[in-house]
Amino acid sequence: MMIPQSESNATRCDRPLVLNALALSHQYARLLILPGDTVIDATCGNGGDTEFLAGLAGPDGHVIGFDIQAEAIARTTDRLQKAGLLERCQLHVASHDQMLERVKPGVRCVLFNLGYLPRGDHAIGTRAETTLPALDQALALLRTGGAVLICLYYGGDSGFEEYQAVLDYIRTIPVRQFAVQKIEMANATNCAPIFICCEKLKD
Ligand SMILES: C[S@@+](CC[C@H](N)C(=O)[O-])C[C@H]1O[C@@H](n2cnc3c(N)ncnc32)[C@H](O)[C@@H]1O
Repeated sequence: MMIPQSESNATRCDRPLVLNALALSHQYARLLILPGDTVIDATCGNGGDTEFLAGLAGPDGHVIGFDIQAEAIARTTDRLQKAGLLERCQLHVASHDQMLERVKPGVRCVLFNLGYLPRGDHAIGTRAETTLPALDQALALLRTGGAVLICLYYGGDSGFEEYQAVLDYIRTIPVRQFAVQKIEMANATNCAPIFICCEKLKD
């Protein structure tokens, strides 16, 4: 069979496939999320991830978004409006450790893109004291076959406290109920972000 030039292996391998933590989280989200699903963006920021999740959830799906900064929710709202996706989204200026009070169980995917708002105040980043309770709540809200996806940044303005706390936390997640995967660069000389997937195997 003739393979069109644009789809041939030669063409695909000619450019680097940089699966960094964010790209991996999106690839996993594509595998997990079905049209009609309910998903959570735990850190809306500029709305790029919220828009992406809303596309995967489709017109019958729902995206519930959280950010503690009104500016982030305003940027996300604007972005979703321009993309025609706002109707399927519900956005909260609130900390993600309030998600259990605001979302019903049965969620397919919760995305945590941790750290600080790009083009914003680097001092208002995510912090272990709210991230860990939020991760607990996210795991509790998942349906079987759903997953919590985490992009974990460290070093620089993100520091190391949240990074260490999240790595310690994920080791305590019950193995009978969740499959927890961590993917990191083996040869990076800087603090390359880490991708984590916690998939719910059973209730
Ligand atoms: C790396 S940014 C998120 C990027 C975003 N998903 C995007 O596509 O642009 C991290 C965001 O987490 C937010 N944040 C910090 N603490 C939070 C908390 N406790 N609950 C929810 N969001 C929080 C910050 O305000 C910031 O906007």
